[in-house]
Amino acid sequence: MTVNLFVILCSLVLWVDNGVHSLQKPVRKFPEGFKFGAATAAYQVEGAWNEDGKGPSIWDDLTHTHPSPISDGSTGDVAADTYHLWKSDVELMKQLGLDFYRFSISWSRILPTGFADQINQKGIDYYDNLITELLKNKIEPMVTLYHWDLPSSLQKLGGLANPLIVEWFEQYARVVFDKFGDKVKYWITINEPKQICYEGYGSTAKAPQLNMTGIAEYICAKNVLLSHAKVYHLYDENYRYKQNGQIGISVSCTWYEPASDTIEDHQAAEDARQFDWGQYIHPIFSKTGDFPLSLKNNVRLRSKEQGFLRSRLPVLSSEEIVYIRGSSDFLGINSYTTKLTYRDASLEGMYPVPSYMDDMSAVMVKDASWPQAQSSWLQSVPWGFYKILTQVRYLYDNPAVWITENGWSTSGGLIDNDRVKYYRTYLSALLDAVEEGSNIKGYTAWSLFDNFEWMSGYADKFGIFEVDFKDPKRKRTPRKSAHVYKEIIRSRSLDMNYEVDDKTVLAPTQVVEKDYVEGY
Ligand SMILES: *[C@@H]1O[C@H](CO)[C@@H](O)[C@H](O)[C@H]1NC(C)=O
Repeated sequence: MTVNLFVILCSLVLWVDNGVHSLQKPVRKFPEGFKFGAATAAYQVEGAWNEDGKGPSIWDDLTHTHPSPISDGSTGDVAADTYHLWKSDVELMKQLGLDFYRFSISWSRILPTGFADQINQKGIDYYDNLITELLKNKIEPMVTLYHWDLPSSLQKLGGLANPLIVEWFEQYARVVFDKFGDKVKYWITINEPKQICYEGYGSTAKAPQLNMTGIAEYICAKNVLLSHAKVYHLYDENYRYKQNGQIGISVSCTWYEPASDTIEDHQAAEDARQFDWGQYIHPIFSKTGDFPLSLKNNVRLRSKEQGFLRSRLPVLSSEEIVYIRGSSDFLGINSYTTKLTYRDASLEGMYPVPSYMDDMSAVMVKDASWPQAQSSWLQSVPWGFYKILTQVRYLYDNPAVWITENGWSTSGGLIDNDRVKYYRTYLSALLDAVEEGSNIKGYTAWSLFDNFEWMSGYADKFGIFEVDFKDPKRKRTPRKSAHVYKEIIRSRSLDMNYEVDDKTVLAPTQVVEKDYVEGY
């Protein structure tokens, strides 16, 4: 009797354990072949902004404006100096055990005019050396073609608001594939279209600060999708057969949770998701293609009320819909946080009219009970990450997914327990989704290094390696999170109880120091 009860209880516990996320095993294995990486982006880490023939980009222009629009007045002129430290950096990556390194190419470093008339050999050499060194150390390069640093010359011509960007981007991509395509097997065309278009063209939150609210972000959205598709088809038709790689796009995905159980708030959260990432994922990954219906309807109705003769959201022709649909081998997801979302019918004075936010007519707020990072927009909500992964599986027929960014910011310090907790809980949420069938191929920590965090300058530190920006040599030191990530990669598993002694973290890191000095 007692034994029977014991058996029943045990099976009950096992059953609950399999079905409920909160009761996890302390050690969970990642699937066979799952890959771990870390990421950076050219403008945020390279420095050497005008060295060796590099042309200026829109981020050079913005950070050199007076008075500075960057909160700490800083620039990316030197940043983490990876332009000079690439060799010792690869050694750090090797020590960490990375399977791959995601970085971006600075367009104006290899094509200073933006066009292929001048190919800057020193720029080509820099990336070629980096890629060769990575491969020598068995680290796969994952290369982003465009991570926000448009050549200044192309911005003068309208940048992503000019439909010719599609041709310019294709010419740039041809040069990149010709030069590096034999060595690079993972390509990302464009990083975070929403941040490019809404923040850069529909507001002032990013370069080029166009602030043509309600107009330019939608023109940009269409041009981004066509630029991406053009380069996908270029690769697919002219390079894939000989280079045999994969090419996709990285979209930033925030989870929008209804603030209450009303139909209005559920609708607001759904609209926010469709504006935020459906706008870019739906045209590429859905069965029907085209912009999401709710986006089209919302912008059309508002445009009509405002006296526009046509919707401010440009139409995708049936040829364009077909051209864009399916143009990705995988979906790159950059994901960080969740926001509570509600509907406020009046929106009195809240957003400019017309604008993207007004079209969406949703209001986002933070939940004070969620852990807060250094960056005001970032709170830790692992279940929101799980919901994104589940939605993507459900809405887009379970595409191959790479998590191309995920991470946490602090104000500094080597003992980054909050970041360790963030990584563990988010990876655990990822494993929940994987165990339910999500086709997730790999995970990328943002970021390998502290770096220039756009409008926040160097105040928001995302690195699992600390970078000393006061040191002319930009010394790197692994934080506790780097030690924990290293063990996750080594064991190919997530052990919630794995402890790293603070003393180990704070002790001088001999090996790193030595290689760092040699590499320099
Ligand atoms: C951006 O444009 C809107 C009008 O659409 C205006 O209300 C706002 O002040 C502008 N922002 C900046 C920083 O210029």
